[in-house]
Amino acid sequence: MTCLLHIDASVDLDGSNTRRLSARFVDLWKERNPGAKILRRDLGRDPAPPLTHTFAKAVKDPELRATGDTGAAWAASEALSDEFLAADRYVVGMPMHILTVPSTFKAYVEQIFHEERVFRMDETGFSGLLGGRKFLFFLSKGADYRPGAPLEDFDMLEPYLLKLLTFCGVSEEDIGFVAVNNALSPEGPDEDDQNRARDGIAELAEIW
Ligand SMILES: Cc1cc2nc3c(=O)[nH]c(=O)nc-3n(C[C@H](O)[C@H](O)[C@H](O)COP(=O)(O)O)c2cc1C
Repeated sequence: MTCLLHIDASVDLDGSNTRRLSARFVDLWKERNPGAKILRRDLGRDPAPPLTHTFAKAVKDPELRATGDTGAAWAASEALSDEFLAADRYVVGMPMHILTVPSTFKAYVEQIFHEERVFRMDETGFSGLLGGRKFLFFLSKGADYRPGAPLEDFDMLEPYLLKLLTFCGVSEEDIGFVAVNNALSPEGPDEDDQNRARDGIAELAEIW
């Protein structure tokens, strides 16, 4: 059965652009895929814990993963990882923070990035284990990073997500972005982007 994990990384719980876009897409997609299972991970309401020394001890010593505070830290991380791996499609609402992903998302990735679950490392190097999964990101950026804009080269949001997922074995064709630029401009978010996002969501929900 197809299983979609709907993730939101925005801490704005009231009027977030990316929450609105990801929710709209998931609603439409659900209508077209009534048999699919939907999981929800709201990193704004329920943030993944930042990594701690306790967690680092459990990473280094598997014997510490079963008991005490190291066991609790490991179990919390495994629960997030289990949920992530239960899905095969991912819809993510993702604002740009300081030119890249928000700390909510980075903390989540650090919790779920388990060796032998998302990647493998052996004498031949690294290989990704997430091949065959599909990702769709709804992005919102305060300024303009489109080709030709003065800030084009400063965008480390899409490039980071692409590298992260291709490192994990996801094919580039299975990674989609719908981006709204200029969300903080006095004139409001870029109208072309907004229209493309609105029309694109309906089209994508049919075919994704
Ligand atoms: C802490 C923080 C950092 C931000 N950093 C950037 C940035 O580096 N570049 C940018 O264009 N916009 C930046 N923004 C603006 C957001 O990307 C923009 O407001 C976006 O629409 C937020 O999405 P949301 O409404 O889904 O939370 C930042 C916003 C916050 C709260």
